Amino acid sequence: MYLGIDIGTSAVKVLLTEDGQATLGSASVPLTTRSPQPGWSEQDAGSWWTAVVDGCRQLRGSVGDVFGAVRGIGLSGQMHAALCLDARLAPLCPAILWNDNRAVDESAAMERASPGLARICGVPPLPGFTAPKLLWLREHEPDILARTAHILGAKDFVALKLHGRRVTDMCDASGMLLLDVAARAWSPDLIDAAGISMAMLPALHEGTDVGGALTSMAAAELGLPAGLPVAVGGGDVAVGAVGAGVIHDGTALLSLGTSGQIFVATSGFRPAPAQMLHAFAHCIPGMWSQMAALLNGARPLAWFAEIAGVPVGTLLVEAESASHPPLFLPYLTGERTPHGDPRIRGGFYGLDNATTRGDMMRGVVEAVAYSFADAAAALRAADTSFADPLVVGGGARSDLMLQTLADVLGTQVHRGAGAETGPALGAARLAMVAAGAAGLDEVARPPAIARSFEPNGKAADYHAGRLDLFRAFYRTAKPLADQAASTRSGSFAPVMNATASDIV
Ligand code: XUL
Repeated sequence: MYLGIDIGTSAVKVLLTEDGQATLGSASVPLTTRSPQPGWSEQDAGSWWTAVVDGCRQLRGSVGDVFGAVRGIGLSGQMHAALCLDARLAPLCPAILWNDNRAVDESAAMERASPGLARICGVPPLPGFTAPKLLWLREHEPDILARTAHILGAKDFVALKLHGRRVTDMCDASGMLLLDVAARAWSPDLIDAAGISMAMLPALHEGTDVGGALTSMAAAELGLPAGLPVAVGGGDVAVGAVGAGVIHDGTALLSLGTSGQIFVATSGFRPAPAQMLHAFAHCIPGMWSQMAALLNGARPLAWFAEIAGVPVGTLLVEAESASHPPLFLPYLTGERTPHGDPRIRGGFYGLDNATTRGDMMRGVVEAVAYSFADAAAALRAADTSFADPLVVGGGARSDLMLQTLADVLGTQVHRGAGAETGPALGAARLAMVAAGAAGLDEVARPPAIARSFEPNGKAADYHAGRLDLFRAFYRTAKPLADQAASTRSGSFAPVMNATASDIV
């Protein structure tokens, strides 16, 4: 029995499998994200561990005694966090997450100082990556950085709780912008540029290595035997790729979680900075990846449902029969591929008196598909091809979303069986490899296809026209976003002296 733990953004997921294929049980514990200022995104590292303990308690409750038969643990997690710990390994502040945009000036300064950076770290600097956020802390919270002895990512903090060692994998290390990605080694130049020291960073491993053994303290909290091997694991997209069998050159997956990615496994380091692709190390030995990375995957669907106060499923049903969707820009937290634009924000265009919330949801679904069309175009421009992608993540549950993706991309898309459990399953597979229970090729097989969606040729012209408008909408909104960012000055609470009945 093997346990996979995924520290996602919206929830921690834990999963149990015996053979790395079928899931015996799983549990999910929601996480709270705070945004104390516009564009900020933070979580308490302690809440990751509490959620892991909670998730294991739930899983133990649902599977019973077999939980005690776990032979190894694997990890997956959201990438790019900046989490500063003091010399006693206690967090000094909340973790600053991958979708936090506060370090706009710092990432621009890094780019100006070393324009060739992307050839070493695989992607031009953007505010959500760890290194620019450390520069932000140096400027705005110098006391925190002065007391920082260690820096860890999300799954690596949980690993510390599990086995007490500071380790990371090549994929998560790539996302810190501190790794020489081709060499799979920390880069002294990048570490200098981030104003930190090598001693603050965890030891580098492959995701299939054993990072440490479960301590008796953690074992007691989780209800597991002490001494279990804990695999190092990797960043969520790469580990999700292991869960989907994407481990060989040219194989691909399309991930629709809070964020979104088209992830293509590559046998070498292939930077493509002009397209804003992320060329990172894969979490498995000897492999890399090229990734079109969208900050806004399926999140805009959940966001609109929260705004409307209606479950996503209800809105998706209404969206199916919508006839006049407005255009939507899905960039709620800026966007990475292809724009590298931390300032752009979301917006609707084309609302009129007859617009329904179903129309608006349809506009949101289309916009998510159009941003994947941009992601696919970026990969094509870098001479990277992929065919008939397997779609994973919570957004893969929606038939409308997958049909729209097939229509817009003009290719078949497949929903894999267990599409939502990808990273947690991948983590359990890495645990099996680390424990010597299976070879990577043997266990990292693609899932069965639960359903395939064929592109509907009749929709091609409609979507080609809408995609042009979507791109024009971005070009039009961009100068507005830049202007809005430079004129933003706090918040304004209007004095209300009219009642609702006066104004409708
Ligand atoms: C990848 C990325 C996301 C986060 C959260 O570059 O930012 O995958 O890891 O899912």
